[in-house]
Amino acid sequence: MRFWRRSIRAVGTAAGRLLAQEHSINPLRSLRHQSNANTGFARRHVACKWLVNVEKFRGSTRDCPDLCTACTRIAVVVSYPEACCCEPSATDRHTHRRLDEQEGWMKKTVLAVTFMVGYAWSAELPYWAYGFAGPGAPPTAAAAAPDSSLKHLPGSKLEFTRAQISDRFGPADWYPEDHASMPDVVAHGKRPDVFACALCHYPNGKGRPENAGVADLPVSYFIQTMNDFRNGNRRSSDSRKGNTNLMIAIAKGMTEDEIKQAADYFAAMKWTPWMKVVETATVPKTRIAGGMFLKLEGGEKEPIGQRIIEAPEDAEATEVLRDDHSGFIVYAPVGSVKKGQALVVSGGKATACGACHGTDLKGMGPVPGLAGRSPSYLVRQMYDMQQGMRKGVWTELMKPVVSKLSDEDMIDIAAYLASVKP
Ligand code: HEC
Ligand code: HEC
Repeated sequence: MRFWRRSIRAVGTAAGRLLAQEHSINPLRSLRHQSNANTGFARRHVACKWLVNVEKFRGSTRDCPDLCTACTRIAVVVSYPEACCCEPSATDRHTHRRLDEQEGWMKKTVLAVTFMVGYAWSAELPYWAYGFAGPGAPPTAAAAAPDSSLKHLPGSKLEFTRAQISDRFGPADWYPEDHASMPDVVAHGKRPDVFACALCHYPNGKGRPENAGVADLPVSYFIQTMNDFRNGNRRSSDSRKGNTNLMIAIAKGMTEDEIKQAADYFAAMKWTPWMKVVETATVPKTRIAGGMFLKLEGGEKEPIGQRIIEAPEDAEATEVLRDDHSGFIVYAPVGSVKKGQALVVSGGKATACGACHGTDLKGMGPVPGLAGRSPSYLVRQMYDMQQGMRKGVWTELMKPVVSKLSDEDMIDIAAYLASVKP
């Protein structure tokens, strides 16, 4: 049953994407290209879980209420939240153009079926690992108040404004003495599409849960995976994950030479502990900012459920200052580390991971290390491989490994791997 559900979902998602591209009705693209026109989208209605051709108006609210033509109740639109969160129209008038007016009946039927299969089934994604609260929840962004004061960090003699800290083409490097001199592409990127690697992955390559740790990756693996991004073989299972799309654009904008320079730079750095794993039944309540879980003030708690919550040790240091000395706390379900260890060490459902990733799990030859890496990242990768969204040449070796893993197995494995001292 599970196999079939997954297969149907994969086929549906792939077909939906393909069709969306073929017929140029990709909602984001349509929006960008016809920013003043009203456009109809096929979407899923949360109340009746049915795919409906809803009438779209360019509303200004995050909920994007629409009328479900099947049950005539107001639907909170769950797909394409980015499209819903477009800038409000000047008049906010409810002028409609229905999808059926734009598309022939056949295209419509095929679309409805593929979208229904693709998106309805994708309700099973481990959303927490992708940095979303649930299916279709709009990406939340922290509203940055204008602040031009100079910021400081203990242990650094430097000072930066917030704008400098998050400058896409030259972000703050708080501790230059930590690392060798950065290649230009790492420190500054290359306009217009190649943002500085240091912005997201930090100058020391430690990265954050919503992106990836890139320090200490084997050079050959680094190059291979960059080519996978370039060739469409590494995409996210959750199309809302904007930074993965940015990563793809970045890889596409780089020369072979720049990729090699970045690979050499990050490979020369050792992976050192970056997170602390805590097993717990309840976790601090969090809000999501740009794919990262930030603890709410007030210390309220909620059940952890089937999730790992990876939160900055110090939200201000991470979120505002991008301090690459300030790590993360990993909240994992009780018992997960031990169960994960059994799966990783003995193989259990697959070949023992150490056979390829090294018995110490720190990587072996061209195979990347897993010890002490971000569990959100690890789960995303295993899931993306299982879904066929990550399918590079080397991914073939991982296919049999992930094929039998359940969502719970992945959580257990990631909790254990995060706890292994690198
Ligand atoms: C806007 C943020 C952003 C920037 C800037 C960025 N990346 Fe990434 N990178 C990501 C994200 C997000 C992922 C993980 C994708 C996922 O989980 O789906 C990633 C993953 C990677 C990986 C894969 C790591 C692994 O273990 O397989 C490599 C390698 C990488 N990036 C290299 C680079 C290089 C080189 C640069 C600079 C030229 C760069 N990145 C700039 C966001 C970014
Ligand atoms: C037969 C060899 C082999 C075995 C066994 C294996 N792996 Fe892998 N693994 C690889 C290769 C090769 C890659 C790189 C895949 C790619 O480039 O897409 C990889 C990549 C990964 C990644 C992504 C790493 C990154 O930085 O993006 C994760 C996560 C992972 N493996 C987890 C596991 C786990 C967990 C196990 C054990 C349950 C395991 N692997 C067993 C060969 C293996």
